[in-house]
Amino acid sequence: MIVDIINKKRLGLELSYQELDYFFNGYLEGRVESYQMSSLLMAICIQGMTDEEIFALTKIFIDSGDVLDTSFVEGVKVDKHSTGGIGDKTTLIIAPIVASLGVPVVKLSGRGLGYTGGTLDKLESIPGFRVDLSEKEIIKQVRDISVVVSGQTANLVPMDKKVYALRDVTGTVSSIPLIASSIMSKKIASGADKILIDIKYGNGALLQTKEEGRKLGELMKRIGEVYHKEVRIILSDMNTPLGFAIGNSLEVLEAISVLKGEQTDTNLVDLCVDLSSEMVSMAKDISKRDALELVFSSISSGKAYDKFVSLVEYQGGDIDNILVSSKTKTIKAHKSGVIKSIDALALGKLSVYLGAGRCKEDDLIDPSVGILLSKKIGDEVSKGDVLATLYINDRGKASDIDNIFEIS
Ligand code: URA
Repeated sequence: MIVDIINKKRLGLELSYQELDYFFNGYLEGRVESYQMSSLLMAICIQGMTDEEIFALTKIFIDSGDVLDTSFVEGVKVDKHSTGGIGDKTTLIIAPIVASLGVPVVKLSGRGLGYTGGTLDKLESIPGFRVDLSEKEIIKQVRDISVVVSGQTANLVPMDKKVYALRDVTGTVSSIPLIASSIMSKKIASGADKILIDIKYGNGALLQTKEEGRKLGELMKRIGEVYHKEVRIILSDMNTPLGFAIGNSLEVLEAISVLKGEQTDTNLVDLCVDLSSEMVSMAKDISKRDALELVFSSISSGKAYDKFVSLVEYQGGDIDNILVSSKTKTIKAHKSGVIKSIDALALGKLSVYLGAGRCKEDDLIDPSVGILLSKKIGDEVSKGDVLATLYINDRGKASDIDNIFEIS
């Protein structure tokens, strides 16, 4: 039976709900071996899935755990999810912006694995910041200040946790049907009414092209329709890192500078403004243009930054003592010219080598290390100019750094 299901998918035939349920629950419960699941996942990667199969798989994922009761949050609950990128600190910026405009934000975030960082790791670089709030604390905090960013409390979609860990080591992450059911099942189980997905494409993302990103977005919208949830999609370029900072403390400091209105006109600011306006437009049921004005005024009035300060205080953090390593090394331009590209994937790998990320779930990260870019695409540079500063410690090693910046 197990091997029949694998063979059926290998031949490109459609699996029934019962077959998918039998196989995936069998894996969760230990009756299906990981080599058998790997084989099915690879067959799915190669042959794809029909919408009916994807809807079935999403339901099987959701039913594997709890569904959060978010009735304690008043009004429309909008959740945002990013498919993961290098230097992506958008949650730290948009959660306070959106909350400062009266839209409650309960963000249950995760840790980083691979080259992309996790929001919880970033927040933990603020000394004392707690990400293990109880359900009671979450409810009190959202009532008091409208914003919480914490780790997951309930047992949401345990099947995704187990399957994702296997996908990660079997080359089966970049499958559009698998990504769609993994993300949508988690968003639906976490009780969101409306869902905003930031789909990244490019060399530092799971999907390489905008076209693949578009396909994933359309599929997620169709899954949303099944559950009567509005899903909006933003496609964002991940060939270049977001903003200037990569690494936990450095990214928190950069988020603070954006919230203070000190950084303008960068890909990071543009994306944060776009995502925040979309969330506010969905929650308040107003036009994106009206939402955009509210977002700009939240930043310029200081309300967004004040909300971030409240968030940090409430979760026990000390915003004045964020530590960055004092040991540095610079990358300099080897010739004069204009910066044509900045390789996001290479920077992601470098940040992991330096100690800012994890290769395995139990790796320890160093919040004080990372990379701070001094230039962005389109900047003119002279030979010898500093392009980036590496914040290092004794553990990390700088890998191949010569090809990160393309100058012509
Ligand atoms: N993020 C997820 O949560 N799941 C995927 O499959 C890919 C990215």
